[in-house]
Amino acid sequence: MQTGGIFPVVIFSDIYNNRKLMDPKPQEDSGTKTVSDSRFVPAFPASTMTRMTESFGLDLSSRRCVLVNGPIIIGSGPSGLATAACLKEQGVPFVILERADCIASLWQRRTYDRLKLHLPKQFCQLPRLPFPADYPEYPTRRQFIEYLESYAKYFDISPRFNQTVLSARFDETCGLWRVRAVDAGGDRTAEIEYIGRWLVAATGENAEKVVPDFQGLAEFGGSISHVCDYKSGREYAGKRVLVVGCGNSGMEVSLDLCQHNAFPSMVVRNSVHVLPREVCGKSTFELAVLLMKWLPLWLADRIILILSWLVLGNIEKYGLRKPCNGPLELKNTTGRTPVLDAGALEKIKSGEITIVPGVKRFLHGKVELVDGRIIEIDSAILATGYRSNVPSWLQGSDFFSKDGIPKQPFPNSWKGKSGLYAVGFTKKGLSGASFDAARIAKDIGKLWKEETRQQKRLGACHRRCISQF
Ligand SMILES: Cc1cc2nc3c(=O)[nH]c(=O)nc-3n(C[C@H](O)[C@H](O)[C@H](O)COP(=O)(O)OP(=O)(O)OC[C@H]3O[C@@H](n4cnc5c(N)ncnc54)[C@H](O)[C@@H]3O)c2cc1C
Ligand SMILES: NC(=O)c1ccc[n+]([C@@H]2O[C@H](COP(=O)([O-])OP(=O)(O)OC[C@H]3O[C@@H](n4cnc5c(N)ncnc54)[C@H](OP(=O)(O)O)[C@@H]3O)[C@@H](O)[C@H]2O)c1
Repeated sequence: MQTGGIFPVVIFSDIYNNRKLMDPKPQEDSGTKTVSDSRFVPAFPASTMTRMTESFGLDLSSRRCVLVNGPIIIGSGPSGLATAACLKEQGVPFVILERADCIASLWQRRTYDRLKLHLPKQFCQLPRLPFPADYPEYPTRRQFIEYLESYAKYFDISPRFNQTVLSARFDETCGLWRVRAVDAGGDRTAEIEYIGRWLVAATGENAEKVVPDFQGLAEFGGSISHVCDYKSGREYAGKRVLVVGCGNSGMEVSLDLCQHNAFPSMVVRNSVHVLPREVCGKSTFELAVLLMKWLPLWLADRIILILSWLVLGNIEKYGLRKPCNGPLELKNTTGRTPVLDAGALEKIKSGEITIVPGVKRFLHGKVELVDGRIIEIDSAILATGYRSNVPSWLQGSDFFSKDGIPKQPFPNSWKGKSGLYAVGFTKKGLSGASFDAARIAKDIGKLWKEETRQQKRLGACHRRCISQF
């Protein structure tokens, strides 16, 4: 019955009860159960184990099965870490499953060298641990990674790495979440099923790159990559590079290319809000937060646009048309982030970055634009955005839309049914993630304490649990 040292299936509350009665301290390695764990005394006779096994329909010879004592958090980016830290504070153990071999893989593996946080640090720090006092107003990517590493260390958070979640579904029969993951950590890949009472989706809004299906890509012949693989413009020196997309990534990569003596053309197929990162030394974001506190959204938008015009001038003449709706309204209604200019605009004004319209198709060594022009290019970088991957693994829940974002808008997007939670899907960046994390931990913490009290009162509750099977 035992596979890989992990005992097949036991019921959550009984295990917790056993452990809790023996050792009231929350466990460091949150919650998985193994028979070799000396603190764990299984409360079930063999016949019961067999019945539970049958109920779960498990083929125990081919799949390891791990009972999780507390929530299962999927993803160890800032959202997963923030949730874990808040759960620690509540005394609730947990398990984090992470597909990469490190925390914050987006920041460590899929961002470029010159990246900085584009909002002031007080809006980006995670709960319960501020940034070091000597960090600059806009911490660099490296500083942010170091902060996240020390955050994980400080709260003693150890995710299970190399665990790609393939599916998660709520099993009505037993009232538990069943999470299937591929473990790519060892010599051979293996499948593991994690079973637990609560599920926290923390896989991020930017889990997968978006690669449009452009006509002619196969004939192009030059290098084409997504911006998630871009590190620096060094390797593009002297090259004509088409940057597709004018979000924060497209703009900053175009600037970086200029600074490395490449010749970028940036595709702007639509209208876009470009705002200065700061107005009179004050962060535009901070200003917007302040204005929104006191004024209606439309007025805050007007003020931001006027200030922006005073700082940047009329940018429409450079091919950057403004959307009809204001930047704050657009952010609130569609989640579209305005571009905070990090210096690209100067290069657009000076002609070092050329603005071009949408792509019609790629040809050998060239690209045809929607206005009929054909330009010669050596490489293309697709700064075409990211998407959530929740629909690819979450089953049987209508909490998320087909785009993988909770259907309920902020501030109600953090809690679904049957113990499902979502952190970091508010389109509000790191501050939104911190907000979700605190609420989720408080909610689970309350349930956890209630159940613990109840279990203690009921004493040998395993009889009740077993009867459900
Ligand atoms: C280039 C760039 C710059 C940004 N800059 C800022 C900024 O300055 N300020 C700001 O507020 N926001 C910024 N953001 C937004 C960014 O998404 C957040 O800062 C933050 O990374 C979100 O944290 P998260 O934990 O929700 O998601 P992520 O950081 O994406 O972490 C999700 C984790 O889940 C893991 N995962 C995904 N799928 C699975 C699976 N199936 N199984 C197991 N693990 C899985 C991933 O490997 C990843 O480690 C930026 C985004 C990008 C792309
Ligand atoms: N800290 C920082 O400085 C920093 C830096 C980079 C990114 N970020 C953040 O990271 C997140 C992702 O940003 P992002 O810029 O990578 O993605 P994004 O904001 O989603 O922008 C994607 C861009 O690609 C364009 N696009 C998509 N498909 C296209 C197509 N087929 N043809 C032409 N253009 C196409 C989009 O145009 P449409 O608008 O027309 O769809 C848009 O301009 C955002 O939250 C952003 O704020 C932060």
